[in-house]
Formats: sequence, structure tokens, C-alpha cells
Amino acid sequence: MRHFTTITGKDIEQARLFLEQGHTVAIPTETVYGLAANALDEEAVVKIFEVKNRPQFDPLIVHLAEPGQITDYVQYLPRVARRLMDAFMPGPLTLLLPKKAILPAIVTAGLDTVGIRVPAHPLTRALLQSLNFPLAAPSANPFGYISPTRAQHVYDQLQGQIPYILDGDIATIGIESTIIGFEDDTPVVYRLGGLAIETIEAITGPLRLQLNSSSDPRAPGMLKSHYAPRKKLYFDPLQPITAFPVGVIAFNRYSNDYPENCQHLLAENGHLQEAAIHLFDVMRRLDNSDVKAIVALPFPEEGLGRAINDRLRRAAAE
Ligand code: TXA
Ligand code: MG
Repeated sequence: MRHFTTITGKDIEQARLFLEQGHTVAIPTETVYGLAANALDEEAVVKIFEVKNRPQFDPLIVHLAEPGQITDYVQYLPRVARRLMDAFMPGPLTLLLPKKAILPAIVTAGLDTVGIRVPAHPLTRALLQSLNFPLAAPSANPFGYISPTRAQHVYDQLQGQIPYILDGDIATIGIESTIIGFEDDTPVVYRLGGLAIETIEAITGPLRLQLNSSSDPRAPGMLKSHYAPRKKLYFDPLQPITAFPVGVIAFNRYSNDYPENCQHLLAENGHLQEAAIHLFDVMRRLDNSDVKAIVALPFPEEGLGRAINDRLRRAAAE
């Protein structure tokens, strides 16, 4: 693979030029950083899979500047999809919808649906508005590892492999988008994420969840083991810990079971949104520290706490 001197900066024009030349560029979104390329250029999209070391059966999300562009890439919008778009786009929501032929098969891994998202981050929105093509982008991490929430996280892992990182500061949501598909026009949640289920249900009524943990081709990235640090992560309180010292991830209070100085509180203010912002950053810091294992204590199973628990469960899976 070609070697680049990776530059980090806030220059939208520079990012645009690299993307127009068919390169990949890391872009900030409010959820996590993405590794973007021209979604209409098959050769550019292939580079995303190479850089991430991602299997080509795992489809990519297509990012648009405006909700109004969705019908350029999607054949059909259920009525409830329109209501979700009106309520939550731009924002941390991805909709799976039947794709139009203009999108190359590699983007969707041959599936007939495409994941579409309109990110809210101002830099990336301005970038998308300056381009005459949409951006295919998975999270900007090596396949299976923790998603990046800072430009530095991307640099640490992809330095030399990509020409440019558009620096949009720390992600303000910190956890990937919520993914919703449709079965007979009824919405189904395939991935818990940065938009809380309760918030969506206020629009749709009670939602069905299908959070696959295997290799269902409809959501291949929902692999049981994913979002994982290199070190062992314990999330099951019954599993005996065999490696010490440990670093502990906790919500807003210290646990009596561990010394305080090895515990990392994600949100002393008790807000789950605040905890989501810091989750991946703290996981990475512990992974790069001299602890031998990571222990995560359970979060309240409500709001973004459900998505946080989901990520921790997958990070702990063998
Ligand atoms: O917040 C996010 O969604 C971030 C930012 C960069 O937009 N992107 C992201 O992409 O998390 P990625 O590729 O890391 O995760 C997308 C997930 C994968 O599990 C993929 O398998 C699934 O969405 N996916 C994408 N398109 C799909 C499709 N057509 N059908 C089923 N699953 C799909
Ligand atoms: Mg990912």
C-alpha cells in the first residue's frame, strides 16, 4: 500500500482535494471519526477496506450533506422513514433503505439496501456541501478495534496510510449512530447508538430490536466481538479476574470493590451523554497504559446507557 505523510488540520479545501483525487480522508462526525472516500468511485472505496483491513462483506454507510439528497440514492422511503428524517437528520441516525444502482455494489457489500446518514458535525457538513459526490465512511479504526473520537486516535492508528485527517475536535456524542432498517415498512433497530431508543420511540411508538450478535448478513458489523481493546476486558461481574493490575471503567460513583486510584469515572455529573463522550477515549487510554486488564462496571440500562452496555458487552466477547 502507498505511504503518505499524514497531515492533521482543519482545512476543508485540502480534504476536498484529496477526496476528489480518489484518496481516503478521515472526517469528524458528532458520533465518531469516519474514514471517507467518494462513494461513487469504486476504486476509492476499495482503499477504505484496505486501510481498515476490513472484510469486503461488511457494508459502509453513505454520508450526505442534506436529508433532501436521500432520494438520489434510495429507491423508496417508507412514510415512517420520512418522519425519522424530519426528526433526527442531521444527527446520529443511520437508516437502511433500498439502494439505487448509482451506488457501486462494493459500498453495500452487494446488499440491496444502503445505510444512509446525514452527520451533524459542521466541518463535515461543509465538506459534504463542497463535494459533488457523497462519502462512504466506516469508523476510522482498524477493523474490530475501538472507534476513534479524536483526531489523535485516528493518527495513532492510521498514520502513514492516509493523506489527511480533518480535525473536528472531540466527538460530541462519542458513540456510533443508531441503525434502523425497515421490514414491511415497520422500523427495526439493528444497532444501538448515539440516538437513544426512547427518543426514537417518541416518534415511532415501541420499536423492535434485532441486535444480532452473529454473522447475519443484514448487519454483518454487529459481530459479537467488536469495538474491542487488545487487552482483556471484563464486563461480566461473575467472571473471575486473572490479570492484575486492572483499570476500571465506572459511571459516576466509585465502587468499593477496587482502589479509587484505578477507577475512571466517565461522568461525575451522572449524565449518560457525558459518559458516552468519554467511553472510547478511556478504553483506549487503558489499552495503552500498563494495566493488564480492563474491568467495566454496568451502566444504567436506559438512554445512552443501553448503547454503552452494548459496546462493553461486545468489547468483552471472545
Ligand atoms: O456513527 C456512525 O455510524 C459512524 C460514522 C463515521 O458515521 N460510522 C460507523 O460505520 O460506525 P461502521 O462501518 O463502523 O459501522 C456501520 C455498521 C456496520 O456494522 C455495517 O455492517 C452496518 O453498519 N451496515 C452498513 N450498511 C449496512 C446495510 N446496508 N445493511 C446492514 N448493515 C449495514
Ligand atoms: Mg466501525
